[in-house]
Amino acid sequence: MHLEPALVRRIAICCYEGEMNAVIHGGNGQIHLDIAADQLTLEINDDGPGIEDIERAMQPGYSTASEEAREMGFGAGMGLSNMKNNSDEIHIDSAPGQGTRVRMCFSIEGNKEAA
Ligand SMILES: Nc1ncnc2c1ncn2[C@@H]1O[C@H](COP(=O)(O)OP(=O)(O)OP(=O)(O)O)[C@@H](O)[C@H]1O
Ligand SMILES: [Mg+2]
Repeated sequence: MHLEPALVRRIAICCYEGEMNAVIHGGNGQIHLDIAADQLTLEINDDGPGIEDIERAMQPGYSTASEEAREMGFGAGMGLSNMKNNSDEIHIDSAPGQGTRVRMCFSIEGNKEAA
């Protein structure tokens, strides 16, 4: 299957941001990638503390990253908005004590311009 480089780039950005969130804020995690003829679905799950207020977490600049994570260059609070801007659809399922599941869909037809 041929995927446009711009689409691969968007998927890589989303996967990177999601996996770093699972490592920095979450706990044990898994990444699943499902490739169908017309759509690609990326799902990143973790068993961490979960997100209390998803709407607030999605706001650019909002971050609860630790000092240690900030010293390594994380904590700008841009990961989730980057994932939203680079996917065609994003669904976040999370609650305190229940871990986090982020599912992103990418249409293979009609690639959207990267944000
Ligand atoms: N998997 C997760 N588990 C728990 N909390 C999360 C998770 N992903 C995101 N969050 C919460 O949402 C906030 C915003 O996430 P986002 O990725 O936008 O920014 P960040 O990770 O803090 O910084 P950056 O991604 O720019 O390095 C996080 O600071 C954290 O509070
Ligand atoms: Mg992040």
